[in-house]
Amino acid sequence: MRTFHINLKSTPKRSVIVCRRNVLSKQLKEDLPRLKAGGAMIFTDSNVFSLYQRKIKALDLPVFVMPAGEEYKTEQTLLALLKAMAEADLRRCSTLIALGGGVVGDVGGLAASLFMRGISCIQVPTTLLAQVDSSVGGKTAIDFCGVKNLIGAFHQPVYVYADPDFFKTLPPRELRCGLGEIVKHAALNGTLFDKLLANRDKLFDLGFLSEIVPENIAIKAEIVCKDPNETGLRGCLNLGHTTGHAIELTQKELSHGECVLLGLLYENRIARRYLATDEAYLDALESLIRTVLVGDLRFDAEEAARLALHDKKNTAEGTVSLAVPTRRGEFAFLKLEYSNYVKALKEIGKAL
Ligand SMILES: NC(=O)c1ccc[n+]([C@@H]2O[C@H](COP(=O)([O-])OP(=O)(O)OC[C@H]3O[C@@H](n4cnc5c(N)ncnc54)[C@H](O)[C@@H]3O)[C@@H](O)[C@H]2O)c1
Ligand SMILES: [Zn+2]
Repeated sequence: MRTFHINLKSTPKRSVIVCRRNVLSKQLKEDLPRLKAGGAMIFTDSNVFSLYQRKIKALDLPVFVMPAGEEYKTEQTLLALLKAMAEADLRRCSTLIALGGGVVGDVGGLAASLFMRGISCIQVPTTLLAQVDSSVGGKTAIDFCGVKNLIGAFHQPVYVYADPDFFKTLPPRELRCGLGEIVKHAALNGTLFDKLLANRDKLFDLGFLSEIVPENIAIKAEIVCKDPNETGLRGCLNLGHTTGHAIELTQKELSHGECVLLGLLYENRIARRYLATDEAYLDALESLIRTVLVGDLRFDAEEAARLALHDKKNTAEGTVSLAVPTRRGEFAFLKLEYSNYVKALKEIGKAL
């Protein structure tokens, strides 16, 4: 078992991240008396519920199940959840337990931040992506008006319980999605980068992945502690995401993690065009991305660039803001004129 603490200036002051097995049958069972005293509810999705319903039901707490999938990360799901929380008589001292992947975590976290102006949330991430990334750091959101994560809030979970046993039921494609964020962390942290390169043949091995989850949480937690509300440094976690989010909106069949990998691949090449970079390092990073990513590497550059213009991170009209890798463990923020960004995406796509 490993435990991390995120100490923040904002409320609640501390988020505790615990990496351990048997979260449903042991950790939450141990927490039950306290949870029941204050009132608690489990929020999950249809896939996770059908896989783990025996253990979920054994906790004997009210449960709200959303349909699985990003297309349900909507205001309708959020409002239905809030209604269920009201009907379950949750109070200010109650806790919402978000048990699922990044979608459940994002919607659940947002509902917890809104209900009675904010109640406690425990994140129990069940995908690799959610364990290494989305459950840590307090960002919550729903997609709105065709824009990803347009409505959201910062709401730190009181606890995150990361249990590698959940990976046993994950389809291999979900492992690739999580690897998208892991490779992103590796682009920010030289030690993790070396470890992934040295273990390229084990990247889909559950034992290896379980071993590197705490390391990934530590990398993200350290950045979040320094900049909880993303006023500067935390922007580095958007590596690959400006282009990745735009691809996600155009290529509905690709998942978030796959789009991040694709975005990282393109932004890696954009970095070489505009900045002084370590070419050998960026070659190695690209080869790592290609080890994980399969399928077509091209997309509609015009459409993606148009969508990237609406990204929340852009600060000036007509420009696209990117966080790009430059050297081992180093990154830079880059602002590009829209026309240069479209041109770069098109040319890189042709050259691939
Ligand atoms: N808040 C943040 O900081 C942050 C960071 C990264 C990503 N995100 C968000 O996270 C979402 C993506 O998360 P995700 O990839 O976990 O997607 P997801 O929540 O849709 O889960 C992927 C699929 O796996 C299923 N699943 C979950 N756990 C399972 C298990 N243990 N066994 C079998 N199937 C399981 C789900 O039902 C779903 O079908 C996106 O909406 C993205 O915007 C948020
Ligand atoms: Zn992401």
